[in-house]
Amino acid sequence: MNRIDWGLIGGGEESQIGFTHRAGACLQRGFQFAAGALDARPEQARTFGKSLGLDPRRAYGSWQEMLDGEMAREDRCALVTIATPNATHFEIAKAFLESGFHVLCEKPLTMTAIEARQLVQIAHQTKRICAVNYGYSGYPMIRQMRDMVAAGVLGALRVVFAEFAGGFMADAADADNPRVRWRFDPKQAGMAAVTLDCGTHALHLASYVTGQNICSVSSDFASGIKGRALEDDNLSAFRLEDGVIGRLWTSGLAIGRTHGLTLQVFGEDGGLRWGQENPNQLYWTPLNRPTQILERGSAELSPSAERASNITTGHPEGFVAAVGNIYRDLYDVISAEKAGIAPDPLALSYPSVEAGCHSIEVVEAMVASAQANGSWVEVGVRQQANLRHAGE
Ligand SMILES: NC(=O)c1ccc[n+]([C@@H]2O[C@H](COP(=O)([O-])OP(=O)(O)OC[C@H]3O[C@@H](n4cnc5c(N)ncnc54)[C@H](O)[C@@H]3O)[C@@H](O)[C@H]2O)c1
Repeated sequence: MNRIDWGLIGGGEESQIGFTHRAGACLQRGFQFAAGALDARPEQARTFGKSLGLDPRRAYGSWQEMLDGEMAREDRCALVTIATPNATHFEIAKAFLESGFHVLCEKPLTMTAIEARQLVQIAHQTKRICAVNYGYSGYPMIRQMRDMVAAGVLGALRVVFAEFAGGFMADAADADNPRVRWRFDPKQAGMAAVTLDCGTHALHLASYVTGQNICSVSSDFASGIKGRALEDDNLSAFRLEDGVIGRLWTSGLAIGRTHGLTLQVFGEDGGLRWGQENPNQLYWTPLNRPTQILERGSAELSPSAERASNITTGHPEGFVAAVGNIYRDLYDVISAEKAGIAPDPLALSYPSVEAGCHSIEVVEAMVASAQANGSWVEVGVRQQANLRHAGE
């Protein structure tokens, strides 16, 4: 296996998601952590980078420094991950894509659909990957679920029920916690809080598993903790392309639901249920038959579920391994490109820039719907005029 140099922007020492990227990227041994601009504060960025074993010349103080430094090297990183707060994603992703790097960007891809569409265009023009870290789609049993739906095991789909509701925004005393504060500041977080932070994961899974985009939405946004500029609870109805009925509940107020991401898909011939707190099991109930529990790593799973399974059945595999599978997909596609051969089709399972853009369009439609007291709003229709005032 040829090592490919990889770099990380953001994901500093106290960050929430930094460890997952550093561990996930190197889990399959394909990527080598070679460069970083890990913190908004230049000195902390350099010091932390060096403490992780980066060559001091590649432990950069800012992403601009990293872009210049890497461009000056022949052995520059092939892939750069952006794990900074939302408001910075567009500018950094654009700069690295236009300079020829492949990018894995944290969700949400951008602050607005206009920016997201620009990134889709830039990725196409530059022929660079701009993947989005909807990391839960790296779970083997999510890929199994997607393959079962595509194979018609459930028959025609009727209802998709997606939740990402936990208690992670439920402490009113967090108002001054810098890691929580930016999530409710429209300038840093964007047009929505819990919907962009958590709800988009559930919405992405709904589309990823069914293979269908979301066409229209009706949303009720609320703030359970008064004074927050953006919503901490969202109950939405939506429709997928084939008229499939969709439901989303996302909340930061659901104390006791430790993580709270679940996906349930119901068709005319059966139902599938999955929850991220027990990600190695998928519950399948054929119509009028007993429920079966499909275990990660067991026999007769789909090829993409088998490919995403790293250790033998019964050993819990978790979030880091799921994100590791996104990196494995990217490694396989980038190394195929370097070798001038076609990638393994199963490696094309990573969340695409189009999926990242669609998510932003869905959230824009939800914000517009919430502002119109829950009226149904079509996804993809320009919502910009209203959005300027989102959260004010
Ligand atoms: N995919 C997931 O499951 C998941 C989970 C958590 C967070 N996220 C996303 O990851 C991003 C970061 O979230 P977090 O929770 O880790 O935030 P955080 O506030 O915990 O950490 C952000 C980190 O980025 C650094 N940073 C900020 N601006 C920077 C800049 N201009 N250059 C370099 N570094 C910079 C900060 O110093 C800090 O280390 C957000 O977009 C968030 O939505 C995704």
